[in-house]
Amino acid sequence: MIINKELYKYIQKIIYNKEPNYLKNIRKKGYKNINKKDMSDLVQGRFLSLISKIKRPKNILEIGTLIGYSSLCLSEGLKKKGVLITIDNNKNSIKHAKKNINKTKYKNNIRIIYGNALEIIPKLKIKFDIVFIDADKKNYLNYFNLIINRISKNGIIIIDNVLWKGLIINKKKDKFTKIIDNFNKKLKKYNIENIIIPIRDGLNLIIKN
Ligand SMILES: C[S@@+](CC[C@H](N)C(=O)[O-])C[C@H]1O[C@@H](n2cnc3c(N)ncnc32)[C@H](O)[C@@H]1O
Repeated sequence: MIINKELYKYIQKIIYNKEPNYLKNIRKKGYKNINKKDMSDLVQGRFLSLISKIKRPKNILEIGTLIGYSSLCLSEGLKKKGVLITIDNNKNSIKHAKKNINKTKYKNNIRIIYGNALEIIPKLKIKFDIVFIDADKKNYLNYFNLIINRISKNGIIIIDNVLWKGLIINKKKDKFTKIIDNFNKKLKKYNIENIIIPIRDGLNLIIKN
């Protein structure tokens, strides 16, 4: 959490974009061999939902499914026959995600793909209106390069963990902090506009020009 905990609690209270019960249940439940800290929280989930409702996307790509919480949040804005493709290379995560998603009205809109996103993305031949990058940090730049030409005009890219627990501003950075910092700085050369939003671990909200 980057911002003051009390302030974050206040933000949680003043959210009028109501979280559906199936999402509440996912947040409350325990999942075997799943680290819930890796999952989007309430505020981030409502943010993803809102962005999707503003954009009204036909196609969404999510890199990093975990148990399907963020997939379901992003699906809330999908057009009627819209599709969200979500990729994860962990069989246990996919198993839980399938169960969670199948309980909702989005079960026919969400396609879960098991495997390494680096190998799967080049095989997807559609353009995306929203891409959410939330998998292994060392590959963030690789993911970005794979998806940038698959984003529709004015399409949105959201990247998680870009402030890396606030460590990003430390003079002495560990390996992972350096990776994220280098990634953030490299985005300058692309034809994009962006703003970093200090929700949870920092989200980079990007629009492709
Ligand atoms: C931070 S979690 C995703 C959280 C989820 N988006 C949410 O907000 O609830 C990251 C996920 O990325 C997956 N992952 C890591 N490396 C991957 C890769 N190379 N290809 C596909 N998935 C990967 C992990 O298995 C993990 O489930």
